[in-house]
Amino acid sequence: MAADRPRVLSGIQPTADSFHLGNYIGAVRQWVALQETHDAFYCVVDLHALTNGEWDADELRRRSRVAAAQLLAAGVDPDRCTLFVQSHVPEHTQLSWVLTCLTGMGEAGRMTQYKDRVARYGTDRIGVGMFTYPILQAADILVYRADQVPVGEDQRQHIELTRDLAQRFNHRFGDLLVVPEPYILKATGKILDLQDPAAKMSKSSESQAGVIDLLDEPAAIAKKVKRAVTDTDSAVRFDPDAKPGVSNLLTIFSALTGRPVAELEAAYDGKGYGALKSDLADVVVEFTTPLRERTLGWLDDPGRLDDVLAAGAAQARKVAAETLAQVYDAVGFLKPRE
Ligand code: TYM
Repeated sequence: MAADRPRVLSGIQPTADSFHLGNYIGAVRQWVALQETHDAFYCVVDLHALTNGEWDADELRRRSRVAAAQLLAAGVDPDRCTLFVQSHVPEHTQLSWVLTCLTGMGEAGRMTQYKDRVARYGTDRIGVGMFTYPILQAADILVYRADQVPVGEDQRQHIELTRDLAQRFNHRFGDLLVVPEPYILKATGKILDLQDPAAKMSKSSESQAGVIDLLDEPAAIAKKVKRAVTDTDSAVRFDPDAKPGVSNLLTIFSALTGRPVAELEAAYDGKGYGALKSDLADVVVEFTTPLRERTLGWLDDPGRLDDVLAAGAAQARKVAAETLAQVYDAVGFLKPRE
């Protein structure tokens, strides 16, 4: 973790019993790769998990461990990066307040995730936390002075807001914060729902029939892949506009095997969707089965898991505390006497 490497920061919510394939292919896979070349900070964002207003305390605790265990099982390596839980580093919320006071109501109100929630539930049924959520996300990133943020396409607007806030802060109080770049891979930034290829794969979708959870049973995963919605044509061709369902399957296949999409198109030329789906079902099950076993292994040893997270939090706090002290001083807070 040499200090001369560029820094990355990313986070994932512990709001489900399992991550889905979109989380992995869109984000976590890049986290694993980037820890080799970057000074990497990855967190389970449990504070963000409260923003839907309905959580169960025991469930949240369990899901936070399940989230950390899945990251470790997927290859996030505490010897190569800093892995921690957001609530263990209070500097995130402390910086968040300063940023909240620099954010316009209209600016926060333009976030599409928030607007979607309002459209779905109305403002009386969503909390203020849902409104301020992207500002906390900005604090997660800025408190580490991250250069890049590896995420899926759905987070692009939040990174834009983060950049605006960093620039605004620097303009008023001096060049303290790093303006981060999104790190979003075009090919895999948006994995689609297998039943509704017009929508992204999402844990909040009403039906989970098109969502592949990494911890699903192998038989359930195979069934979901084999039932994926395609189109009435039968040509296995990558064409996201005309053939979003098949193209999504090719994207997933390519991501999990490393085989280029063009090679897959050639291999399945004339064979039809059945062969593609059946082989992809095997590929996904071969990928998820050991991942599931490693996850359960970590969960069997919560003491070891908590040790990893404690070491990560201590490491993260060193960096976060330094940024926060400089920010607090710059904005005019009295320094507490030592
Ligand atoms: P979350 O927990 O919803 O998702 C975690 C990561 O998975 C990506 N992702 C996808 N990528 C491709 N295709 C999909 N269908 C798909 N679904 C999800 C997300 O883009 C994300 O990268 N607000 C964030 C969590 C967060 C964060 C941060 C991220 C909090 N603080 C700081 C980066 C930096 C979120 O809700 O992600």
